[in-house]
Amino acid sequence: MRRALLLLAVAVLLLVPCAHAEPPSPGVTHVSVPPGTPLVEWGAQLFGGNCVTCHGPAGRGVFSPVQGAGGTTGLGPSLQGVGAQAADFYLRTGYMPLADPRKQPRRSRVLFSQRELEALTSYVASLGQGPAVPTPHPERGNLAAGLKQFTEHCAGCHQVAAAGGYVTNAVAPALDQATPVQIAEAARIGPYLMPRFSERQISNAQLDSIIRYVTYARHPDDRGGWALGHLGPVPEGLVTWFIGIAAIVATCVVIGRRLRA
Ligand code: HEC
Ligand code: HEC
Repeated sequence: MRRALLLLAVAVLLLVPCAHAEPPSPGVTHVSVPPGTPLVEWGAQLFGGNCVTCHGPAGRGVFSPVQGAGGTTGLGPSLQGVGAQAADFYLRTGYMPLADPRKQPRRSRVLFSQRELEALTSYVASLGQGPAVPTPHPERGNLAAGLKQFTEHCAGCHQVAAAGGYVTNAVAPALDQATPVQIAEAARIGPYLMPRFSERQISNAQLDSIIRYVTYARHPDDRGGWALGHLGPVPEGLVTWFIGIAAIVATCVVIGRRLRA
């Protein structure tokens, strides 16, 4: 009986870590093409190896009753007309290829080479008329105007320090890794649950200011006070709590002693 129990315990201990282990990273499929193959053709083959299961032949999308990421029903949305802009953003952030269509895309290591990225982007762009990769000019932007625009349009989700936060059903990531081009792309695309901003809502000049502010917010000068890693209200609240709890406990100890005396 004891031996059986022991064996059972060992078996459970061995199984638990397996059950919790992350599935192995799927990686990406590279294809070798003869030299001189047009970029779009190479991109089509890479698309066939890495994207077609979710985005369908010719990027028409795969629709199914399964609830997909961002509330889409299907494995992947249509890519016709999303243009080089969306392809460039989703690939260079490592958001795509996605491992699980029901999960929010997250920034991760890019497993394609520079040339493969160009090939895939030109293939997606060839699927329909769509916006090109933008060329922002943050150096022309104005920091104060950027802070104002960012507070108005972006801080509700990303926090005013651009340190990220939570919104219903999604994580609004910290903006410390996005390049100026990616910030401009994100604003125009509105990835996942983020809204997209038209040029009427935010002009290109205003976007330049926003980008200037976001890149500035990575190294702000802290005038007085603790920065607390610029993590925002949650850790700030926690610190307050810890100080508060220590104060309450100390008070109780002092009062307790007096009552006993
Ligand atoms: C309603 C909430 C919301 C608002 C408002 C919003 N965002 Fe986002 N943002 C998100 C979410 C959620 C993501 C993650 C997208 C994903 O995972 O596909 C995101 C992603 C991004 C990214 C990519 C970051 C990375 O490294 O992965 C950038 C850049 C960005 N947002 C900039 C902006 C800017 C600039 C504004 C204002 C013009 C803005 N966002 C407004 C929710 C928001
Ligand atoms: C497991 C399924 C899956 C795979 C594989 C996948 N995608 Fe996606 N893709 C999605 C989902 C789901 C979304 C919607 C995510 C969102 O709303 O942010 C998406 C969104 C995109 C978008 C943005 C579309 C838009 O409307 O702006 C692009 C571009 C894209 N994928 C390109 C690719 C490319 C290129 C590959 C192959 C290298 C790929 N995807 C592989 C599921 C997938």
